[in-house]
Amino acid sequence: MIVPIRLLTEQERRYDIVIDALPELNFQRKVAVVSNPTVAGLHKDRLLQRLKAPQIEWIEVPDGEEYKTMDTVLGILDRLFEAQFDRRSLLIAFGGGVIGDMTGFAASIYQRGIGFVQIPTTLLSQVDASVGGKTGVNTRWGKNLIGSFYQPEAVYIDPAFLETLPPREYAAGIAEVVKMAVMFDREFFEFLEKSDLKNPAVAVEMIARSVRLKADVVNQDEKESGVRAVLNYGHTFGHVIENETGYSRYLHGEAVAIGMVMANELATDLGLLSCREAERIRDLLQKWGLPVEYTVRDPQAFYEHFYLDKKSMNDRIKFVLPGGSIGTHIMRSDIPAEEVVAVLERFTEKR
Ligand SMILES: NC(=O)c1ccc[n+]([C@@H]2O[C@H](COP(=O)([O-])OP(=O)(O)OC[C@H]3O[C@@H](n4cnc5c(N)ncnc54)[C@H](O)[C@@H]3O)[C@@H](O)[C@H]2O)c1
Ligand SMILES: [Zn+2]
Repeated sequence: MIVPIRLLTEQERRYDIVIDALPELNFQRKVAVVSNPTVAGLHKDRLLQRLKAPQIEWIEVPDGEEYKTMDTVLGILDRLFEAQFDRRSLLIAFGGGVIGDMTGFAASIYQRGIGFVQIPTTLLSQVDASVGGKTGVNTRWGKNLIGSFYQPEAVYIDPAFLETLPPREYAAGIAEVVKMAVMFDREFFEFLEKSDLKNPAVAVEMIARSVRLKADVVNQDEKESGVRAVLNYGHTFGHVIENETGYSRYLHGEAVAIGMVMANELATDLGLLSCREAERIRDLLQKWGLPVEYTVRDPQAFYEHFYLDKKSMNDRIKFVLPGGSIGTHIMRSDIPAEEVVAVLERFTEKR
């Protein structure tokens, strides 16, 4: 006997990403806001002025990637039980990607799943982490290895929150924007080159265009069985750099910037990108003070490190590269190890 299950989920999984000044949010159910002391110290009042609900729990967790753990999530869940949250209750993630990933994960497992809303406050989380429904925590085995695909009910992106963001964090977000432009949209890349991205009006356009690009990708491939993997451009190398440097020397976006430069060198070697185009990408990253150099101590060890990345469990490592020019992409899992190691060799001394 065959009993068919046909889940009627499509309709309820539609939601909007609103890019604008934070509107008044009126909920007829219990709400818990998850944030950290940094974001709360700067923006708690602004959020509470706009948030209406019969009961509001304010949950703060320590600030930092090192607290993106199962323990912190269990602490959040405890608070929800104490406040007698039920399946109708709502979580709001109020902070950067760390808060967003953990809050989404907590929402996905509390009583088998309750609603959640994202209010991202860093550039990186506004253009990348809050879009697409990946949630999770880090473990001692690696980053983001426990988690779920769990879409929010809505995302509210208010660029005004970025006014308090340290410049280094802003630049790290730009790295992810550059990633999307190089992979998908040459005209957008040119816009990034020539515009004053610190100007608030220009920043809004940059955020909107990035979100649209990422949303397009996620709409085609929510669970990363195809095109979504293109968003890993720069990340295959970047993750190794983050790991080798103990997740402390570079912000994630900074490691991705170096990773893109490495990927571009590989693409240049393979005849997929001209030196001139690689130079343009490097120049744009450098203009934002992003690192583009890194000293690889042991190229062979660096290469073997790729296998620790969950995105390359198979024998063949998948490289995402520009596919001929800026604005195009290609995924290759047939690149001989020697080709890659030859690129890494060039990063063994200051050039
Ligand atoms: N889910 C996804 O698809 C996805 C995509 C990319 C990254 N991520 C995850 O996102 C995380 C990185 O996110 P992030 O770069 O936002 O880091 P983060 O959340 O650590 O925020 C960076 C710092 O900025 C502070 N901050 C946040 N908003 C601020 C504001 N408005 N003013 C001043 N300071 C502010 C934070 O407290 C923190 O100290 C990583 O854990 C990464 O794995 C997830
Ligand atoms: Zn990233």
